[in-house]
Amino acid sequence: MTYHCEQLNPHACKSYLIAVPGKEEAVIIDPVIDHVNDYANLCKERGLHLTQVIDTHTHADHISGSASLKDIFNCDYVTYVNSPSKCATFRVVDGFSWDLLGDIPVQILYSPGHTKDSFSLILPDRIFTGDALFLDDGGAGRDDLPGGDPGMHWETLQKFCQLPEELIVYPAHDYRDREPSSLKLQKETNPHLKKSMESKEAFIHYLEDLKLGPADWMKDVLKANYACARDPKAAWIPTDAPACEVKGTIDIGANEVEVASIPPSVLKQKMNSSEPPILVDVREAEELVGPLGKIDGVIHVPIASLSRKITDLEPYREKEVVMVCRSGGRAYTGAQILSMAGFPKVSVLAGGMLSWNEL
Ligand SMILES: [Fe+2]
Repeated sequence: MTYHCEQLNPHACKSYLIAVPGKEEAVIIDPVIDHVNDYANLCKERGLHLTQVIDTHTHADHISGSASLKDIFNCDYVTYVNSPSKCATFRVVDGFSWDLLGDIPVQILYSPGHTKDSFSLILPDRIFTGDALFLDDGGAGRDDLPGGDPGMHWETLQKFCQLPEELIVYPAHDYRDREPSSLKLQKETNPHLKKSMESKEAFIHYLEDLKLGPADWMKDVLKANYACARDPKAAWIPTDAPACEVKGTIDIGANEVEVASIPPSVLKQKMNSSEPPILVDVREAEELVGPLGKIDGVIHVPIASLSRKITDLEPYREKEVVMVCRSGGRAYTGAQILSMAGFPKVSVLAGGMLSWNEL
């Protein structure tokens, strides 16, 4: 049995289209409301009709596109049995199995921890893990939001460890363009999974040490998803925030570091002074040649590799360093990392390139 699986989004939230060659039906896992029209157009172009939309859990960092797609395609909306969603039509339980699109065996694995209604979909060759497990050093989704439970998350990871190691992991988020890879590899590289294999206590202690900052806006997003919002603006969502990530990629303690920001106008003045600051742009390479452009003379170190490349920045340790990204989110994380590493004069370009370009 062959089937087609395609990730549809251009950003950190991952939505997967599943279709069977020769069939006119399809399924989307974890659709995002901002792209509902794109999904609908894609289906139209390919002559596909959605029969099911599936949310692996109630999302806190984006509004689900499932309610809107359910309206458009009159399809089923699949959630876990205890999902607070008011418009789910097909509620699954642990161990439930069926043939997706009539062809692809799928089994439900209850995967709480990030939320109480999280589940994974096990297909013959892959597993859709939602936020229960991300890829590599991305770790997994945070457990500090309403319904989160580190102990349950540990139990979920124990279940993952019992599954066939050749299953390929497809998460609901990835902030650093990592490629899906096997559970076997995740056991070797994923800090959450590795720590969970030590002991429950060690895992919970590890999560406590991450000490995430508050994310009150995420509670509003949860509420919008409980209510099956069809409006992308039903809750305010910041751009550029790796919101669901537990910062598996940054140093423990860095989340607590507060860093200063510098307005674009002040930075511009300093750039023209006799001792201009060092600029470090932490965006991805393609963004630097994109519409927002880059500031002349920046040092480019993508946020994902900043921790590993701090030695490259050693010559500038005592200088004034300004971190730059699209809107300030990643640069803030970058400034926290450099501050933790002992750089004394690090700040963030307030509003990032979006604000810089408005000067
Ligand atoms: Fe999530």
